[in-house]
Amino acid sequence: MMSFQHMLSAGSKKISKTSSSLEETAEIGRSIARDLAPGAIVAFFGDLGAGKTTLIKSLASGLTGIDPHEVSSPTFTYLHIYKGTCPVYHFDLYRLKNAADFLARGFDEYFDAGGICLIEWAERIDPILPEHTQRLEIKHLDENKRTFTFL
Ligand SMILES: Nc1ncnc2c1ncn2[C@@H]1O[C@H](COP(=O)(O)OP(=O)(O)OP(=O)(O)O)[C@@H](O)[C@H]1O
Ligand SMILES: [Mg+2]
Repeated sequence: MMSFQHMLSAGSKKISKTSSSLEETAEIGRSIARDLAPGAIVAFFGDLGAGKTTLIKSLASGLTGIDPHEVSSPTFTYLHIYKGTCPVYHFDLYRLKNAADFLARGFDEYFDAGGICLIEWAERIDPILPEHTQRLEIKHLDENKRTFTFL
């Protein structure tokens, strides 16, 4: 499968992939993982149930070697940290009020802590996302179909 990053460097602006199954989504997650280096920030945009956590399971597993089942949405704690060759910081900001709340909790320290940040509900902090953030939009097309687009 041609990687997202490879297509980005080929000069296109918006890069989309459609998945029709959990297995295809897992493969997309693993392919994104292969393209991320320490310091990367991926911000996920999409409705409830769009598939952010499902994608992040295979992505974080690809990055760290942990079992995808160990990856779940950190809804009540905002942040889960998975340890691997480099740490993965998995945020779920659904319950966060706004960017000021994020900063007040000191979470911006994780942007340059040497790991990879994966941020669900990045809508909450869009104005303060660092410039090198990669924004990934997930659309729910039908029961099993999703599109993943790097904006
Ligand atoms: N092709 C697909 N890719 C991803 N998820 C799919 C697909 N087909 C069906 N699903 C289902 O869609 C749901 C996606 O839920 P998930 O928790 O990943 O969404 P989310 O975007 O993280 O939602 P939330 O905003 O509540 O955190 C899961 O139940 C998953 O099984
Ligand atoms: Mg989720």
